[in-house]
Amino acid sequence: MTKLSVNINKIATIRNARGNNLPNLIQVAIDCEKFGAQGITIHPRPDERHITYQDVYDLKPVITTEFNIEGFPSTSFINLVLDVKPHQVTLVPDPPDVLTSNAGWDTTKQKDFLKEVISEFKSAGIRSSIFLDTEIANIENAVGTGTDRIELYTGPYAENYTSDKGKAIHQFIEAATLANKLGLEINAGHDLNLVNLTYFKNNISELLEVSIGHALICDSLYFGLENTIKKYLNCLK
Ligand code: PXP
Repeated sequence: MTKLSVNINKIATIRNARGNNLPNLIQVAIDCEKFGAQGITIHPRPDERHITYQDVYDLKPVITTEFNIEGFPSTSFINLVLDVKPHQVTLVPDPPDVLTSNAGWDTTKQKDFLKEVISEFKSAGIRSSIFLDTEIANIENAVGTGTDRIELYTGPYAENYTSDKGKAIHQFIEAATLANKLGLEINAGHDLNLVNLTYFKNNISELLEVSIGHALICDSLYFGLENTIKKYLNCLK
């Protein structure tokens, strides 16, 4: 079974545009779960431009499914995650000013850094996942970091899907096969949507979780949040 974790950053972006509490992020998280989402993902950034650090504390007691916090492991992020203790932390290598995560870790160069950070999360009983592209060396060296899971960066898959989906998925199948062989569990995310999700799911065995934000929130403008979540769940059947 592949879990759908809804990334609710965009809800916070809309809320922050007016400085009040509309839409109510906490209510949206509760409703996503009520409509069938099996997890909630957030990405608190240092500038708090969407999810604030306070949001993380406010969400913790209400989330009844899997709580996934993603972000760059700065000291303040590490402390926040250790304090809140989500089920999963997903480490991304993006610098503070980037629009959205657009690359995976270089696990050859960053192995020691990741190993140190991951061991802290491990001691606190928090599952870790690291955001990775499909480079074979990055998958191989991920094992040495001690991470439980990898999250495959699906941006390039989504970009190439419309022109040649067979070609677009090829490197993901290779990466996932190797990761499975090495004992790494697999998540995926970025730019997944109602058009490209089913094909991805059907070709990647042992896909445990997808985290989806931008397209899902955009689709909900037309279909409503409940129908949209059901449509995404349907793609993952
Ligand atoms: N995974 C990671 C690591 C991300 O940073 C994001 C975007 O916040 C996502 C998944 C979800 O991507 P999208 O918003 O394109 O669905």
